[in-house]
Amino acid sequence: MRTQVGIIGAGPAGLTLGRLLENAGVETVVLEARSREYCEARIRAGVLEQGVVDLFDEAGVGERMRREGLVHHGISLQFDGERHRIPMSDLTGGRTIVVYGQTEVTKDLIAARVASGLPLLFEAEGVGVEALETARPAIRYRHGGVEQTLECDVIAACDGFHGIGRQSMPAGVLREFSREYPYGWLGILAAVAPSVDEVVYSHTERGFALLSMRSPTRSRYYLQCASNEDLAAWPDERIWEELRSRTAVDGWTLAEGPVLEKGVTGMRSYVCEPLRHGRLFLAGDAAHIVPPTGAKGLNLAIQDVRLLGEALVRWYESRDDSLLEAYSDACLRRVWRCEHFSWWMTTMLHLPPGADPFDLQLQRSQLRYVTTSQAQARALAENYVGLERV
Ligand code: FAD
Ligand code: PHB
Repeated sequence: MRTQVGIIGAGPAGLTLGRLLENAGVETVVLEARSREYCEARIRAGVLEQGVVDLFDEAGVGERMRREGLVHHGISLQFDGERHRIPMSDLTGGRTIVVYGQTEVTKDLIAARVASGLPLLFEAEGVGVEALETARPAIRYRHGGVEQTLECDVIAACDGFHGIGRQSMPAGVLREFSREYPYGWLGILAAVAPSVDEVVYSHTERGFALLSMRSPTRSRYYLQCASNEDLAAWPDERIWEELRSRTAVDGWTLAEGPVLEKGVTGMRSYVCEPLRHGRLFLAGDAAHIVPPTGAKGLNLAIQDVRLLGEALVRWYESRDDSLLEAYSDACLRRVWRCEHFSWWMTTMLHLPPGADPFDLQLQRSQLRYVTTSQAQARALAENYVGLERV
């Protein structure tokens, strides 16, 4: 098989890149290791920046998101038993975020590609890439028990943190930066109307909690836990009790309902540089990871492929490779801004095991400053809704 751009991975990055190139008349094949059912059921991120919402609209895949997504104008930070609203839209000239699950984004992108009749192979696992330094790179993949080769002009590795793209870079090419956090998140999806109108990030001495939502009838809640937490130790009643305790404020109650799904996510910051070797380009989680506290992972993945899509279209239209040459540096400027923001939100809101009273007082002081100083609140808000220029 031969195509112009071979895309490994049908997560948000790979599917969006496929759509952007389709709209510009560039041929792609998307290879995905998992089944369609698995990809459409995976629960992950929930907050879309305005720039990402606009991109989905312009790409012609935003119709259901516009109908069902929940537009939010603020978030709240809770500490010392009080909730403080950050009026993000007021602080950013009217910008908003949209709460719309990554699961739904994925379903919309898959449906659009299937409707266009373009190649999207599920259960097709990339096992290697080759000839990256030539004009005819190739992806080796296994599909239906048979190993096959996809020849391309360019390979886009959108295959997530554990994918093969980054691992196929020759030794010595990549520089890696990382940080592990000594905690994780236990997340639940519950069949109950959200008890809050906007996302609430809550700092307590017992640990962090996050109140979010997916729809008027689905709540998405998280608790700080150990990075290797055993879910068996968390029957639903214990989860609700801990959520109640970590989010309590006077005159407000947390509505409970059946828990439909629960899982534990570790927290890590990671960046590799550069995002390119020869004809192989990395995008999204394949190249960088942020802890979820800033809600940036999915947004960064889409911003990467926006730039990669533009660069490839320019190259196919005029053989001008200046944007391809600039791709890695341009992405990394945004990546590092989001790495810093996500690290800052994470370390401000989570008390690590073994923290002492000095750590606690620093966090409280920082939270009080962010919620009382307009300059500080604006700094948080402009990062949260997504900076246009980085
Ligand atoms: P992915 O979504 O990981 O997609 C990569 C795709 O490549 C997958 O479908 C995978 O099956 C496929 N693949 C991998 N290897 C191969 C191969 N060899 N061959 C073919 N296909 C392959 N972000 C937030 O902002 N908020 C959150 O609450 C949040 N929660 C998360 C929870 C979890 C458990 C995880 C893992 C991530 C979470 N994130 C969250 C991060 C966010 O979901 C990611 O940043 C986003 O999915 C990145 O999209 P992507 O397309 O780059 O990668
Ligand atoms: C979510 O709704 O899943 C969510 C919201 C905000 C975050 C992370 C996850 O920071």
